[in-house]
Amino acid sequence: MTPTIDLEISRRSVLAAGAATAALTQVSGAEAQGVVPSSPPTVMGVSFVVNGTRRDLKLDTRTTLLDALREHLQLTGTKKGCDHGQCGACTVIVDGKRINSCLSLAVMHEGDKITTIEGIGTPEHLHPMQASFIKHDGYQCGYCTPGQICSAVSVLAEIAAGVPSHVTGSLTEKPVVTNDEMRERMSGNICRCGAYSNILEAMTEVAGARA
Ligand code: FES
Ligand code: FES
Repeated sequence: MTPTIDLEISRRSVLAAGAATAALTQVSGAEAQGVVPSSPPTVMGVSFVVNGTRRDLKLDTRTTLLDALREHLQLTGTKKGCDHGQCGACTVIVDGKRINSCLSLAVMHEGDKITTIEGIGTPEHLHPMQASFIKHDGYQCGYCTPGQICSAVSVLAEIAAGVPSHVTGSLTEKPVVTNDEMRERMSGNICRCGAYSNILEAMTEVAGARA
């Protein structure tokens, strides 16, 4: 009979050990997924100028610039598409250069000058690029449009400043406004409605007006 008792004990031990292991695995799995915070978030102050106005925020250091603009400053013109740097919907202009705000932590922008679509123009005083998008139907649903316009404004400034691209083909050659040049530079801005050709027409008109 002894072997049977040993076997029973052994079964119970195995079951208990199994249950304990499963519980531990669940806890560590939850921690790994960020469900159970291992420590409180680090909060930091940051000050930057958004559309000409100084803004002071205290933020979890993990907050992206996109979330700071949308969730903390209620500047919801800047859109969240992929949140992974792949669609360009979140494009804003920082110190004269366009960036994907979903890929940048807000606390990295201490003292920076940030322009969002709300600062590009107003319904009463449209930026020429905004007016041209309207004229050429450069949008359908409009979700990508704030990012497209911020990029389009920056792209023409980049070309005017002589910033090279793959299309330019040379670091010494000054780029000129061509369809290929604009298409290449706008390739990070995705439009699911496929308004690309109209966006190009809008940009061409603004570039022509400048020239
Ligand atoms: Fe930033 Fe898509 S939301 S690139
Ligand atoms: Fe709809 Fe571009 S206008 S995604």
